[in-house]
Amino acid sequence: MIKKFLTLCWFFQRPTFWRHALQLIIRKFLTNYDSLQYRIKATKWAEEQAISYADALEKLEINGIKDGMDINSIEEGIKLASKSKVDMGGPGDINLLFDAVRLLNSKYVIETGVAYGWSSLAILTAMSRNGLGKLFSIDMPYPKVGNESFVGIVVPDRLKKRWTLIREPDRRGLEKAINLIGGSIDLCHYDSDKSWWGRAYAFPLLWKVLKPGGLLISDDIQDNMYFAEFVKSKSMPFAVTKSDDKFVGIIRKL
Ligand SMILES: C[S@@+](CC[C@H](N)C(=O)[O-])C[C@H]1O[C@@H](n2cnc3c(N)ncnc32)[C@H](O)[C@@H]1O
Repeated sequence: MIKKFLTLCWFFQRPTFWRHALQLIIRKFLTNYDSLQYRIKATKWAEEQAISYADALEKLEINGIKDGMDINSIEEGIKLASKSKVDMGGPGDINLLFDAVRLLNSKYVIETGVAYGWSSLAILTAMSRNGLGKLFSIDMPYPKVGNESFVGIVVPDRLKKRWTLIREPDRRGLEKAINLIGGSIDLCHYDSDKSWWGRAYAFPLLWKVLKPGGLLISDDIQDNMYFAEFVKSKSMPFAVTKSDDKFVGIIRKL
């Protein structure tokens, strides 16, 4: 009870987070599509589709050498991460992101969920190598953890000129990023609110502004059936890959 009260106070102090807080309350009255039965179903579905990240990109006709992130950038990130005083969320599939952005020459990218910033680092490193691109990242810090000042810590200063970090929940943050870009995007990486309802809000918005040929990449698709249902409804090429103990889904818009 006290915990819930403290969370409420945390949100109360941040007016730009109120829309998200309201949605969390509304969700309590909606069908829960994140229960164990859906998780089991989604994990089985993802397992059946899973291939290596390089094969996944080939399947989506993204051709070229897939060599992933270089070890120096990763080691530099690990050094920077050691300065964080709090533990944050685990990384997305950095090799997949690096090669996708590099091979597609992506100009505008949106990502949701930053934490340490491994996915941001992968995207920005690829953009720096291409000499092209801007990344718009959206991140609401974990309530009551006090991680605000460590969000994106693995991104070195030299890569920040291509980076806009919007420190707000998806609900508001995504609309802000889309308005700032003022046009379509080449790629998006979804790694924030992984609930079914969270994806049901964000995916259609991202899909609408995604260019033909662009990719929507989503982390942790085993959490619920949203990604499986989404690809079925779109009938577009998709692939699934396994990264550590989780599954990443990729869909290409034609
Ligand atoms: C798994 S971590 C992201 C990891 C990151 N992509 C990486 O590769 O290092 C998830 C992040 O999303 C943030 N987050 C969770 N729910 C959110 C929401 N509704 N809107 C924006 N950010 C959210 C968390 O606070 C956390 O920083």
